[in-house]
Amino acid sequence: MTTDPHPWAGDLEALCAQVWTRLARGVADRHAPARHPVFATVSPEGMPEARTVVLRAADAAAGTLDIHTDLRSAKVAALRTTPWAALHVWDPSAHLQIRIAAAVSILSGDQVAGIWARVPDPSRQSYGSVPDPGQPIAGSLDYLKQPDPAVFAVLRCTAQSIDAVHLGPRHRRARFDRENGWAGQWLAP
Ligand SMILES: Cc1cc2nc3c(=O)[nH]c(=O)nc-3n(C[C@H](O)[C@H](O)[C@H](O)COP(=O)(O)O)c2cc1C
Repeated sequence: MTTDPHPWAGDLEALCAQVWTRLARGVADRHAPARHPVFATVSPEGMPEARTVVLRAADAAAGTLDIHTDLRSAKVAALRTTPWAALHVWDPSAHLQIRIAAAVSILSGDQVAGIWARVPDPSRQSYGSVPDPGQPIAGSLDYLKQPDPAVFAVLRCTAQSIDAVHLGPRHRRARFDRENGWAGQWLAP
């Protein structure tokens, strides 16, 4: 008899808990799959945009995820027009795809001073390039890194819904919504 490596996959509450466990692992462990979600937004022109980010915080009780970025980046301009994002994680060892739809608040300045104080120096280098991120430059290295707390932003993503797909011997899919207290609903995969 073989034991089920993912017993949580057959129970809605346990599946939702597993999603947050995997997200928290991404924050704590740089080698965990959820360390690098794909973060998708809608450009001011209405085009889909996706990029890799680092997951910096995951609060299961509040249902929030934090991403750090440069206030001048295109994703911030996108979020100013459409304050919604999708996050995607594929966790191969759990056979689990996580998709999250989130409302995003752009936090900066005094709101993030405490977080900036805890950002290690190597990571600070990512916030404050000259010229602004995305500007054309003559050569590939014609830019400077000037860490600047004034352009440091935290994208606080408040999850509104989660779609989880588990690829087991039989595939399973469930949706969880904030508006009904995260009670899950099985879906045909
Ligand atoms: C592994 C990896 C991690 C990244 N982490 C971040 C991040 O945490 N925040 C960020 O703003 N950009 C991060 N980037 C860069 C983005 O993918 C993207 O190139 C950059 O933010 C510009 O995106 P935008 O023009 O859509 O705003 C990361 C890239 C890679 C490859």
